[in-house]
Amino acid sequence: MEDFIERILISEEELRRKVQELGEQITRDYQGKEIRVVGILRGAFIFMADLVRNIRVPLSVDFMSISSYGEESESSGIVRILKDLDKPITHKHVLVVEDIVDTGLTLKHLKEVLATREPASLRICALLNKEERRIVKDLEVDYLGFNIPNQFVVGYGLDFAERYRNYPFIFVLKPEYYRSGAQI
Ligand code: IMP
Ligand code: MG
Repeated sequence: MEDFIERILISEEELRRKVQELGEQITRDYQGKEIRVVGILRGAFIFMADLVRNIRVPLSVDFMSISSYGEESESSGIVRILKDLDKPITHKHVLVVEDIVDTGLTLKHLKEVLATREPASLRICALLNKEERRIVKDLEVDYLGFNIPNQFVVGYGLDFAERYRNYPFIFVLKPEYYRSGAQI
């Protein structure tokens, strides 16, 4: 195992099973409809790629890139759109795919922004949730993969300083690798 891995939290097999379950659930819920799947870059790209391959209703994909103002480690809840959707979502059934809900501030704000565009429906699918960290109490996550403890995780799309997105499982880094500027 790589030297920087402290602990694997969710294995490749567990991810595969859960993503399949989520895809089946979404397929059932959207029978007779067409979905616009909106991935939030960059963290959701691997999860979304696996998820859509498990959905069996017509769909199209679009992407958004957002960043929160303020310190890097704490979300401020003000979402700056770095890359907006390419297509309008008016009258579309929109499913937002996000890697992780932490404080919930980012998704709450994003939901408000997208709602003003009057989609036919707007739901959220998140792979991970850190309930302990939640500030926004009334944020509804319609499809959720895993509740995880309050620990910073990487892999399967999630990064620390843009690294580790490429690993096919979710893991915790050894503490020395979280120090800023740490080299591997
Ligand atoms: P929120 O506004 O606090 O919910 O911020 C959620 C965003 O913070 C996610 O989309 C991630 O980009 C980032 N984030 C929060 N926790 C983690 C983590 O454990 N690993 C990697 N990114 C995280
Ligand atoms: Mg993110």
